[in-house]
Amino acid sequence: MRIALRRDYRDRGLGGEAVRLVLAHAFGTVGLHRVELEVYAFNPRAQSVYERAGFVREGVRRDALYWDGEYTDAITMAILAHDWHAIHGGER
Ligand SMILES: CC(C)(COP(=O)(O)OP(=O)(O)OC[C@H]1O[C@@H](n2cnc3c(N)ncnc32)[C@H](O)[C@@H]1OP(=O)(O)O)[C@@H](O)C(=O)NCCC(=O)NCCS
Repeated sequence: MRIALRRDYRDRGLGGEAVRLVLAHAFGTVGLHRVELEVYAFNPRAQSVYERAGFVREGVRRDALYWDGEYTDAITMAILAHDWHAIHGGER
């Protein structure tokens, strides 16, 4: 998964809420076991949002992206159904 909001809607809690709603649907309604994503190292805001939702860092793809004249790492993160239920107690 990956979330992107219009610039003027950022930093109001909407991204965090969107991630939680997607995960509630994925685990609570669809019954998925695992949701994973990739976030670039230059994006600490997105990493913070994903970590707060329960995503765990699993690895780093070193220098996976060449952006604006520099290489940057791609961080892989995932959350499992039991992580989600442990954090959110089965909420939908
Ligand atoms: C990433 C994105 C979806 C987050 O949504 P958002 O609504 O802006 O984020 P929220 O307001 O829910 O939460 C932002 C959190 O990041 C934190 N944060 C902001 N800038 C930060 C920084 N430089 N370093 C660490 N944390 C930061 C805030 O403190 C806040 O945490 P808190 O609620 O604990 O205080 C949104 O900013 C966006 O669309 N960005 C551009 C596209 C993008 O980067 N998408 C992710 C691709 S993987």
